[in-house]
Amino acid sequence: MLQINHVQQRILVTLVCVLLIMDCCCILECLENSQAKRVLYHYRRFDYRKKKPQEQSFKKYSRACDQREKCRQLVGAARTTCGRQCLSEYCFNELYGIDELEDGEIDVRLHSFKGCFFEEQYNMTKIKRIN
Ligand SMILES: *[C@@H]1O[C@H](CO)[C@@H](O)[C@H](O)[C@H]1NC(C)=O
Repeated sequence: MLQINHVQQRILVTLVCVLLIMDCCCILECLENSQAKRVLYHYRRFDYRKKKPQEQSFKKYSRACDQREKCRQLVGAARTTCGRQCLSEYCFNELYGIDELEDGEIDVRLHSFKGCFFEEQYNMTKIKRIN
């Protein structure tokens, strides 16, 4: 039988504990990572301050886009996607280009999309003024 003294026993117990703790941390980290992948999107943020005139203006443009023949035939995320592309190709690509909108998804990117949309409108009026 293997004889171990008191000090060796303590070292062994400590080692086992450290390994167990490390394992637990790994499991937790893995869980966090998989959750982060599901919840966190990486997309460009555009400033947007929710104000009544802007909201109404956005709604007006949205309605016009939704009523287009092309978008009317679609449902769910495909219809929303069609509408956003119609509102702004540039902003759509910036925000939804890589990570497509899915059915049932809570659209957390809409706020930034509105910001982008009005920024683009603002840019276009600037260009008009220069020309
Ligand atoms: C608006 O113009 C600025 C300056 O030229 C540019 O950096 C920005 O990307 C433009 N934004 C949009 C949405 O077109």
